[in-house]
Amino acid sequence: MTSHKEFKAAAEKALEHALAWREDRAKLPAFPSATTAELRARFDRDLPAQGLNGEVVIENLVRAAEHGLVNNTHPNFYAWVQGASHPIGVAADILTSAWGQNAAIYQTAPAAAIAEEVCAKWILELLDLPAECSFAFATGATTASFICLSVARSEVLHRQGYDLELEGLTGAPNIQVFLGEEAHATIISNLRYLGFGRKNLVYIAVDKQGRMLPEDLADKLGRADGPKIVILQAGHINSGAFDPFGDIIPLCQTHNAWVHVDGAFGLWARTAPSLTHLCEGVENADSWTVDGHKWLQVPYDSGYAIVKHPKAHRRAMDISASYLVSDPDDGRNPTQFGMELSRRARGFTLWAVLQAFGREGVVEMLSRHHDCAKLLQQRLTGTPGIRILNQVVLNQLAIAFGDENEELEKRNQMTAAVIRKMRQENTNFVLGAKWKNQTILRISIISQLTDKSDIELLAASLLSAWNAVRFV
Ligand SMILES: Cc1ncc(COP(=O)(O)O)c(C=O)c1O
Repeated sequence: MTSHKEFKAAAEKALEHALAWREDRAKLPAFPSATTAELRARFDRDLPAQGLNGEVVIENLVRAAEHGLVNNTHPNFYAWVQGASHPIGVAADILTSAWGQNAAIYQTAPAAAIAEEVCAKWILELLDLPAECSFAFATGATTASFICLSVARSEVLHRQGYDLELEGLTGAPNIQVFLGEEAHATIISNLRYLGFGRKNLVYIAVDKQGRMLPEDLADKLGRADGPKIVILQAGHINSGAFDPFGDIIPLCQTHNAWVHVDGAFGLWARTAPSLTHLCEGVENADSWTVDGHKWLQVPYDSGYAIVKHPKAHRRAMDISASYLVSDPDDGRNPTQFGMELSRRARGFTLWAVLQAFGREGVVEMLSRHHDCAKLLQQRLTGTPGIRILNQVVLNQLAIAFGDENEELEKRNQMTAAVIRKMRQENTNFVLGAKWKNQTILRISIISQLTDKSDIELLAASLLSAWNAVRFV
């Protein structure tokens, strides 16, 4: 049995290391340097027959993970759309673990249930979405979209007089799902988990930025019968672009289609006055996904499913059993809207992060990141052989290297060479991707700490890497 004394020593040791990691982060190299073999050798020790002392376990953990941690709390981390785990959120997360609450139902965690209720209200205010929406806490955007699409599936069948909860999917009317050709990978897998095969999916053509073309959707909706779900995107993973909600959602409504919006990071644009125009009309959708652990900097894991139809939400997701008791005066049971019966009390951390930022803090960060993206665009524009493929509307840049009149293969090699060079230099964490057949260097400006001085360094590094590649 672990004594309180041993717990205290281990917790103090863990805290010491946690603070050192956060304090030293600017000095650490951007990329982890431990090899797979090294990490395996360090972690893969014999399972001890007798338990070890807690403080020793924590020291062993720190040593095993050393140089195998990705420095995504670093201001110069641009490789993926990942937040930087807000320090006050981390502090609240330590408490959350110590309190050990299971946030499934009100009676197992009353304070957590109320924190979630209040956070839901704040998020709806920040996103300027209808206050009557229902809300579920999820592990991230993947599971939040799974929840929203489960509700959509149930409700579009319900509107046809079909009771999915009673009859099940076998024999149900065929649902057609419409999505952009560049919908996020997790949307496609969610649809697979929900029983939609490729034949049920209708792909809609997109423009150069990855935005759905309303004419193509209108044409394809016009030719479809039966229940329909349309999936839109707020924040394309490469370009940061938004589907034209103002044109598309009214069209979907004339076809009685459920509209879901994957706004994993982009939906936060609703909060900053300089960016809200990107999301005009999105409030008319039926459900939305947004992440806390991306642009809002909430420590992992924290995603939110928001649904405009609480009755349908509860019908599709409810977990109830006689032992999951509630009294009339209780707050809501999160399991009536989410997927898990045992889970972390995610609301405490979110509550703390929102308090630490305040509305103005969130707006300042979003606007700063957008300004940083524009600054990087400015610094790179005009250099021969550097092409920014997207319109920089948000925080994302998709950069390709090499002259346009060179062969695609050669350009792709040059972009890959710049990425390798950046990796060798090891001061900025950047990576590549493929977009519309081109290799791109993808920049996501999303760490809470990143400011214009970091972008000046990034621009200088990129220009020097490009010069090294093109003048070899
Ligand atoms: C647009 C979009 N949707 C969904 C996801 C998946 O989010 P999560 O990793 O929180 O499940 C991402 C992740 O980057 C994303 O950018």
